[in-house]
Amino acid sequence: MASRLALSRHSAAALRSLTRRPATPVIARGYATAGLGDSLNPSAPTQSNVPNPDPAADSPSAALVAKHAPYMVATYARPPPVFVRGAGSWLWDAADRKYLDLTAGIAVTALGHCDPEFTAILTEQARTLVHASNLYYNPWTGALSKLLVDKTKESGGMHDAARVFVCNSGSEANEAALKFARKVGKVVDPSGGKTEVVSFDGAFHGRTMGALSATHNPKYQRPFAPMVPGFRQGTYNDVAGLDALVTENTCAVIVEPIQGEGGVRTASDEFLVALARRARQVGAVLVHDEIQCGLGRTGHLWAHAHLPPEAHPDILSTAKALGNGFPVGAVLVNERVADKIAVGDHGTTFGGNPLACRLAHHMVTKLADPALQADVRAKSELFRAGLARIRERFPDLVREVRGRGLILGLQMTEDPAPVVGAARERGLLVITAGTNTLRFVPSLKISEEEIGVGLGILEEAIAATRN
Ligand SMILES: Cc1ncc(COP(=O)(O)O)c(C=O)c1O
Repeated sequence: MASRLALSRHSAAALRSLTRRPATPVIARGYATAGLGDSLNPSAPTQSNVPNPDPAADSPSAALVAKHAPYMVATYARPPPVFVRGAGSWLWDAADRKYLDLTAGIAVTALGHCDPEFTAILTEQARTLVHASNLYYNPWTGALSKLLVDKTKESGGMHDAARVFVCNSGSEANEAALKFARKVGKVVDPSGGKTEVVSFDGAFHGRTMGALSATHNPKYQRPFAPMVPGFRQGTYNDVAGLDALVTENTCAVIVEPIQGEGGVRTASDEFLVALARRARQVGAVLVHDEIQCGLGRTGHLWAHAHLPPEAHPDILSTAKALGNGFPVGAVLVNERVADKIAVGDHGTTFGGNPLACRLAHHMVTKLADPALQADVRAKSELFRAGLARIRERFPDLVREVRGRGLILGLQMTEDPAPVVGAARERGLLVITAGTNTLRFVPSLKISEEEIGVGLGILEEAIAATRN
């Protein structure tokens, strides 16, 4: 009971702060850039008793969407609010209402929205040099590569990390990983028999054809079949199945230590150790996809860092938080991989540009800080305790609390979409994953108070959907 009161108190404060108008009239600025001009009325009356009701059909936000949506390929089903500004863990919509963002742009804005230091670096580098191509050296691609290698080794992760390839996104990082592994297979076995790629159920590795071929989800694959040949699916955490799954024909095994899109499912240490052992037995390259779970999100620089060195990957892919919202991805590789890659084997026009690399250098410096990581672990405890209380209150709806650090999930017994909507209309942004999982991947700098606010609103939102 006491805990429930604590959440409600947080929630009441949240609702007060949500209805308070910020000193700066952000909306005028945001809408001017968005092209709505004078048509916006930020103080348009709301239609219901929730603090942030979704914009109505006759609202300026809806008018903007109606004007723009017909020109956008409909790859996403978006809710009605239009976001115009962000700061820390908060977003503001076009009607000047604030939302606590527990999605962080899908595990991207690890330092929060528009972190002032990040923005200052972005501005400074944009004035200095944005792009000169991979045909020439610049100061930042190499500096980022060295920092990623050094900090990874310091953190206890991938002990033999040696070199880095920088690209623009998570899918491209995995694409590079898969191509590098195929090349290793070709060098190790010139007969061409070592080309199979193994990945697991529930995995999400991206939308490009290679990464998609490793993402065995019919929803994503079927419209684009046929997939790239030579991809096999195994069962996540099934140690017994590994010998039959990973064979002499396998050139790569790709695995997420914690599946994000798959529903915040964690690989057991036993599985990751056995997988590495089997990959090495058959000479396959082991790829860890830490695009969502890496870079401090678990309270350690890498989610695999606690594993024994023999279970470390040969290739580690990263993106998302690497740019805090600026598009950048990378793969770290050991010498066993690097020495099989020749000039001309792979490339990218934008990847490794000085602007992205300088920003990523800043991000790695910040996210590798042990103090930040300890803070993530402490906040995780608080978050989990709050989620556990919510589970106690709604035992029929909430089956399990999952995850590590600040990649957490609530396994629900039914579709959480109504909760997502009810939370949004109360000023809280959360996302789903897997099958009926609510996913929480906030900024790593979210405060304890903000966690309390978020849990309070979440509890209210769940309660509202139960009535
Ligand atoms: C684990 C993982 N790998 C790969 C990707 C693909 O990254 P991107 O969307 O940047 O291409 C994602 C994106 O959600 C991801 O979570």
